[in-house]
Amino acid sequence: MGGSFRGRFPLAGRDLLSTRDLSREEILLILDTARSMERLARSRGVAGVLSRKVVAVLFLEPSTRTRLSFEAAAQRLGARVVTVAEASSSSAAKGETLVDTARMLAGYADCIVMRQGETGGARRAADAVDVPVVNAGDGAGEHPTQALLDLYTIRRELGGLDGLSVAMVGDLKYGRTVHSLAYVLLPFRPSFVFCSPGELRFPPELVSDLQSRGAPVAETDSLALALKADVVYMTRLQRERFADPAAGERLKGAYVLTRALVEAHHPEALILHPLPRVDEIAVDVDDLPTAAYFRQAQNGMYVRMAILKLILGR
Ligand code: NCD
Repeated sequence: MGGSFRGRFPLAGRDLLSTRDLSREEILLILDTARSMERLARSRGVAGVLSRKVVAVLFLEPSTRTRLSFEAAAQRLGARVVTVAEASSSSAAKGETLVDTARMLAGYADCIVMRQGETGGARRAADAVDVPVVNAGDGAGEHPTQALLDLYTIRRELGGLDGLSVAMVGDLKYGRTVHSLAYVLLPFRPSFVFCSPGELRFPPELVSDLQSRGAPVAETDSLALALKADVVYMTRLQRERFADPAAGERLKGAYVLTRALVEAHHPEALILHPLPRVDEIAVDVDDLPTAAYFRQAQNGMYVRMAILKLILGR
C-alpha cells in the first residue's frame, strides 16, 4: 500500500481492506463526503477531481452493483477505468497468482479495486504493491465499502447512528457484508441481534471480539425476535461457499421476510439487504416505506465516489 499521511487528508494513499481499520472520525469523514458526492451527482453529474487518475478494477468473482457502482463512481469524478470483469478473461485463468496480477496492475493504475474469493487475499495483494488497494469482497471475509454504504443508508433513513439495535439475519457465517457492518457500527455503540440457522452462525471468535469491545450481542434463530430491532439487515445464503451443497437445499427458505411479518412485529423497522436478494424478502415488502434496499444500492455509488476521492485525492 501507499504511505499514509494524516492531518487534513487522513485517508489519502491508504488501503481500505477492513472496517476494523477505520476510526469513528474517518467513518464520519467518508459519510460526510458521500453526502456531498450525492449532491454533486444529482446536480452537476460529474466533476474532474480525479481526471489525472486511472483506477484498475479487478473482479474475479461475480458482481453487478459493486463493480458498476465503482466504475460509475470513478467516471463521475473524471478518472479513467480499466477493468477485469471475470476471472475467465484474466490471467488468473492461466494460473497467475493474485499477488502477481496485483503487481502488474499497480504498474498501470493509481489504485486497485479488487474482489476475489480468498479470505485475506486483498490484504496479501495490498502488502505486495505500493498503490492503494480497496477490498470489494474477499471470499467470506469482508466487504468494507458495502458496510460504509449500509451505514450511509442508515444515517440517511433514520437521521443518526448512535445506540441503534441492529439485527442481521441469514447466512452470518459466509456473508462478508455482515462481518464488515458489525465493525463499522462499533464506534456508534450498537447492540446486535444475530439471527441465523445454527450452522450459519456469526463466527464465534468475532462475536467474542465484538462483546469484548463493549457491544451487547444476542444470538437467536427467531426472525420475530430479530424484527424488534431498529434495523433489520437481511442476507441471502452464500451457497457458492458451502462445503456441503446439500446444505443449500436444506436451509433454503429458512428466513423469508414478508409484509405480514413486518406489519405484525415492527412496522417501523428499517429493512436493508446488500442485494442480490434470492427469496429472503418477499416482493410484497418492496413497497413499504421502510424497505430501503434499492435506495441502499443507489447510495453505493455516492459512497464509492467518496472513498475514491479521499484515497486518491491530494
Ligand atoms: C454482497 C457480496 O458480494 O458480498 N453483494 C454485494 O456486494 N452487494 C452480498 C451477496 O452477494 O450476498
